Amino acid sequence: MEHQIITDLNGRYTTKHYDSSRKISKENLNVILEAMRLSASSINSQPWKFIIIESDTAKERMHKTFEENFQFNQKHVFDSSHIILFAHNPRYTRDDYAKVVDQSIKDKRVALENRDQAFGGFAFVDLNTDESGDNRAWTKAQTYIALGNTLHTLARLKIDSTPMEGVDSEAIAKEFSSELDGYICEVGLAIGYKDPKQDYNYPLPKSRLAQEQVIQIL
Ligand SMILES: Cc1cc2nc3c(=O)[nH]c(=O)nc-3n(C[C@H](O)[C@H](O)[C@H](O)COP(=O)(O)O)c2cc1C
Repeated sequence: MEHQIITDLNGRYTTKHYDSSRKISKENLNVILEAMRLSASSINSQPWKFIIIESDTAKERMHKTFEENFQFNQKHVFDSSHIILFAHNPRYTRDDYAKVVDQSIKDKRVALENRDQAFGGFAFVDLNTDESGDNRAWTKAQTYIALGNTLHTLARLKIDSTPMEGVDSEAIAKEFSSELDGYICEVGLAIGYKDPKQDYNYPLPKSRLAQEQVIQIL
């Protein structure tokens, strides 16, 4: 199939070795961050925080979180350009949603007199919240939409990446407790430029189940 979207998506792959001498330009980074911010989420809840590991100090801290687990991903911390931590709010509340509603009033999407009505969508949160106020499965799902959107954006920009569920969530919670402020990071994304000579994954053909196996058109 010939289409720019398909070319982009075939071009992206999970990078296993980065060229540490190449970093992402400020301009491209800003496009990536804005694309992340524009990600869709249920009821526009945006129950996420994206923490960008850029400075050497932040990288030292991130590197430390791999001491016990998932060491196979550790080398990306210094070799890639940036690591993005995708974190979700495990207890999304009406107060959190009020920020979204008030922003939509500011953006002139909702009229001030309709503010109360705008909370109608919060019923979706209630549906996904247990007796203790926990709705992390739902907020985590939203965060993966942002991850997918970021992967596609990177593919278009021809920037390489490594999605990583192989991150030590507890170590990250400790090391970045002040930045996370109770949010949970269970997935990260390394972004940068491959080292084509050392990356065993780069020359491999893309492999996916056939359309007939995963898609049914009724
Ligand atoms: C949510 C998620 C988590 C992943 N975690 C890791 C990881 O920790 N380390 C790694 O090297 N690859 C990881 N991968 C990469 C997948 O193995 C890879 O996307 C899959 O095999 C498809 O290959 P492709 O990305 O090269 O097309 C992850 C991918 C996703 C989407």
